[in-house]
Amino acid sequence: MIYLDYNASTPIHPEVQAAMAPFLAASYGNPSSGHWAGPPAAQAVARARAQLADLLGCAPAEVVFTSGGTESNNTALLGAFWAAGERRRHLVTTCIEHPAVVAPCHFLERLGAEVTSVGVDAQGLVDPSAAELAADLSWTNGVRGQRAWLWDEL
Ligand SMILES: Cc1ncc(COP(=O)(O)O)c(C=O)c1O
Repeated sequence: MIYLDYNASTPIHPEVQAAMAPFLAASYGNPSSGHWAGPPAAQAVARARAQLADLLGCAPAEVVFTSGGTESNNTALLGAFWAAGERRRHLVTTCIEHPAVVAPCHFLERLGAEVTSVGVDAQGLVDPSAAELAADLSWTNGVRGQRAWLWDEL
């Protein structure tokens, strides 16, 4: 049997498995715990955060660990919406998003966001001009003086 669903889940890389092994056995503490099991885990998380920040070229404080895709999408979308304040409340998304993106978009619509879903071609690629047009229309129509924003502006 050939497994063709790497989009959904993959086996863990052996190097990752080896790096994780101590924390699945001996060093299993909660990083927030004040007792003996906490500090080793906290140090490991801090090290991982610093390594990721270095890889991504950002500050360690900008690295946010989540439990998975759904939490990440919700954190990014809701966080950007609330951080944007009153002026930038137009989300441009696509018609092929995962429900973990669609649901928070619908939620934000109920909170007053304008959501535009642009189409994709047969390869699933977004036409950049369609996304730009969606943003421009909002800018031009800006009834409340809102400026549209695209994901790459986040
Ligand atoms: C694009 C995308 N977003 C979110 C999810 C949901 O991820 P999770 O199960 O980690 O919450 C998936 C799962 O396949 C996904 O493919």
